[in-house]
Amino acid sequence: MAFSDDVRTRLDVEAKEIIGRYPHKRSALLPLLHLVQAEDGYVTPAGIEYCAEQLNLTTAEVAAVVTFYTMYKRRPVGDYHVGVCTNTLCAVMGGDQIFAELKEHLGVGNDEMTEDGVLTLEHIECNAACDFAPVMTVNWEFFDNQTPQAAKDLVDRLRAGDPPAPTRGPSRLCTWKQASRVLAGFPDGLAGEGVAAGPASLVGLELAKEHGWAAPKAGSKAGPEAGAADPGTDAGKDAGADS
Ligand code: FES
Repeated sequence: MAFSDDVRTRLDVEAKEIIGRYPHKRSALLPLLHLVQAEDGYVTPAGIEYCAEQLNLTTAEVAAVVTFYTMYKRRPVGDYHVGVCTNTLCAVMGGDQIFAELKEHLGVGNDEMTEDGVLTLEHIECNAACDFAPVMTVNWEFFDNQTPQAAKDLVDRLRAGDPPAPTRGPSRLCTWKQASRVLAGFPDGLAGEGVAAGPASLVGLELAKEHGWAAPKAGSKAGPEAGAADPGTDAGKDAGADS
């Protein structure tokens, strides 16, 4: 079923703004998909049709993009999308255990919504936060250094209508639909909140300062005097042969 006239009128204004950001209309597809996802919480057939119309694409072309990127959902998502990182580092640090216990605690499988419609659980790939492993996300905001019990407390609070603040980033969580609007390029004013990098991310920098280490200048090659044998040099090959 297509969007109602009211919804279309509202979306048209925002779609025009999004499309105007790009020299080629079709480049606007990704943010436009987030915009229609913000409408219903997932990309519906109406959303696909709308994007195709706006960008002079076929619905097959739009659907191909939707099914390629995991951030676009084809089924209803709760107010809170709860992601558990089960990529290698998080998995061995407890991510697999967290995911298994959450599935049991919530009575849902992967990519399924709880009966009350409050949250959807999904195992996610590395979120570039391995230094805080195991990590979870709620509507893509970070919850660092989780344990099975902390994870259960987190989802219980979400279901009780008492969402906790993320570990890093903004001081409060928004809903899944609001997060989709932000990804469409309509800021909610929270992007500048919180720390840019947590202490664990800065350990390497602190060590480098302590030891006076610095990155080689652009165009220069790290030589043996820098303590690193380049495998492309004779010194590097020799070092490899000796090992
Ligand atoms: S493996 Fe989980 S954030 Fe990288």
